[in-house]
Amino acid sequence: MRRSIVAANWKLNGNLEMAKSLVTVIDAHSNGLEGVDTVICPPFPYLSYVGGLMSASNVHLGAQSIAEYESGAYTGEVSAEMVAEVGCRYAIVGHSERREYYGETDAIVAAKFSRIQAAGLIPILCVGESLDQREQGVMQDTIVRQVNAVAAEANISNMQNAVLAYEPIWAIGTGETASPEQAQEVHEIIRSEIAKQSTDIAEGLRILYGGSVKANNAVELFSQPDIDGGLIGGASLDAEQFNAIVAAGSL
Ligand code: 13P
Repeated sequence: MRRSIVAANWKLNGNLEMAKSLVTVIDAHSNGLEGVDTVICPPFPYLSYVGGLMSASNVHLGAQSIAEYESGAYTGEVSAEMVAEVGCRYAIVGHSERREYYGETDAIVAAKFSRIQAAGLIPILCVGESLDQREQGVMQDTIVRQVNAVAAEANISNMQNAVLAYEPIWAIGTGETASPEQAQEVHEIIRSEIAKQSTDIAEGLRILYGGSVKANNAVELFSQPDIDGGLIGGASLDAEQFNAIVAAGSL
């Protein structure tokens, strides 16, 4: 049985005051919940502060992105080692917003994935197709390409210390969630793709679903056989919504 993960991706939202009230309530709720890890990924400036508000052993800190380089003249960038130093255990990589707005190619995503693991962190690797790609019938090709860009670069054994997240672009922030069946279909595709290289690793791999997950659809999504939790955007900014989603992860 794979242990669920429910991760909050705050994106470019929040402030110190909101961080305090939100994280305190989430930490208290998650504390002692069986079978689920809660991960909170605030913007960089709040990482240390948010980490300091966490006391539950199943609540962890994550970064939303990291640089593809270890150090050097890269103004504005933050390294995997730096976020590890301030308490992160996870880092998101390959989010469609990074791919689309910041030109992150499969090669850059693969490089970042390796950096994250080299710093001792667990990558949350996001993959997902656009509406166009789905309508043109290339959803599977797109997902497999995105997964293999990293699985090939990183060596399949590194998938043992990684988490995947399927986030269909058409479902992100739109209120239009993939149906449990649509999500399950893609999660199964991802797991079978990994299984071609290692059935053990595929069996143990946590694959999260992201895209308009709310309190009222989380239970149904998470009850699918290949869905092991969620990566939550909008609903992670509301303590009541997010806690209900975490609770769905513990069922
Ligand atoms: P929403 O939950 O707001 O759709 O965002 C999903 C997401 O992109 C999480 O990384």
